[in-house]
Amino acid sequence: MIITPEQHDHAKKLIDFIDQSPSPWHAVRSIATRLEKAGYQELEESLPWHIVPGGNYFVIRGHSSLIAIKAGTEAPEDTGFRIIGAHTDSPTLRVKPKAAICSDQMLRLGVDIYGGPILATFTDRDLSFAGQISVRTAHGIKTSLVCFERPLVRLPNLAIHLNRKVNEDGLKLQRQSELPLILQSLEKNLPSSDQFLELLSQKANRSKEDILSFELNVYDTQKGSLWGPSEEFLADSQIDNLASCFSGMNAMLSSIESAHTSLCAFFDHEEIGSESYKGADGSFLSDTLERIHLGLTTKSDVHKIALAKSFLISADAAHAYHPNFSGSYDPQHSVRINEGPALKINPNQRYATDGQSEARFKEICREAQVPCQTYVHRSDLSCGSTIGPMTSARLGISTVDCGAPMWAMHSLRESAGVLDQLWLTQTMSTFLGMTKLP
Ligand code: CO
Repeated sequence: MIITPEQHDHAKKLIDFIDQSPSPWHAVRSIATRLEKAGYQELEESLPWHIVPGGNYFVIRGHSSLIAIKAGTEAPEDTGFRIIGAHTDSPTLRVKPKAAICSDQMLRLGVDIYGGPILATFTDRDLSFAGQISVRTAHGIKTSLVCFERPLVRLPNLAIHLNRKVNEDGLKLQRQSELPLILQSLEKNLPSSDQFLELLSQKANRSKEDILSFELNVYDTQKGSLWGPSEEFLADSQIDNLASCFSGMNAMLSSIESAHTSLCAFFDHEEIGSESYKGADGSFLSDTLERIHLGLTTKSDVHKIALAKSFLISADAAHAYHPNFSGSYDPQHSVRINEGPALKINPNQRYATDGQSEARFKEICREAQVPCQTYVHRSDLSCGSTIGPMTSARLGISTVDCGAPMWAMHSLRESAGVLDQLWLTQTMSTFLGMTKLP
């Protein structure tokens, strides 16, 4: 397989982006840093906004959702909005507030399950923590990002000699008792101290008593990699859905001034249903659209007109065909790695695509000279969903669901195709750049 230097370069940058973003809070910082570097100005939701035609902005809600905005030169009621949506969170384990479990001369940490990870993939890996911590200071509460770079914890498997049927039955982990992570061994006859809080307080440079709260995800310290003889594949954690965020962000950064206003909305909490003040089912995008519109028009009562003329590309990973499990796919609608972005269709609106948005997306791909595949889930398996249906329903905006195909969705180590990443970006660039949508 021939991969161009541009395609490899794009995939390597994606891997760097993921590796710099071990939690949704870090992902938002990674995106904000790149936007700031390109001259985008941060807007605070608690302050009045001064929006000018042609201006570049971004706004963050709750530290882990971000919307980037490229204001058009014409009023949104004339042009509509063009929106790309994706999510910043991935399924993982989350450290419990009173995490330390001291027993059997071991300090283990209790974890909750965030979203729907494949739990077995967390075993025998070099795990650590990343997230945010809030501390008491002389000037009030201060929240900052924390990431322990080196492996700190582990979930060792049970040996096969003690779990003889593991290869027949699969690895089953009891969620309350078998997931606590091993942090360290405790010395015999010495009183056990909370070494974990000690680590946190060192990291935050505050005393243990000053730690007010923390939200810490378990992440895999192993960096992403390209694999295969031509390095046509990539492997990393969080490909779902940081790869879509990366494509949307790059499409935005490479787009030039246009008549229409473009937005990229990156939401936290998709993996747990999106129902939160910063999730896709919350008011973040509708509030932002309204405030941007107010800044760009002289007319009143025209916001619904702008929404009616708008279009949303909801990008999330798609299930790529796996030749070892051929029976898991609809044979007519399986999508392949490195054969282009997948258009996702479900008549029960688990995906927001309808006939019009499908047709439009195919024409955008054609214009971008990108191959496009069509994915439909097996009829006898329940289908996942995305931010597409709820965002579309909330705003009344026509929407297509699409995404790059990948293997092992929700594994701690997912994989995908190198070609699909640049193709998805090019599709989004074309969408944001076209003078008129098909
Ligand atoms: Co996803």
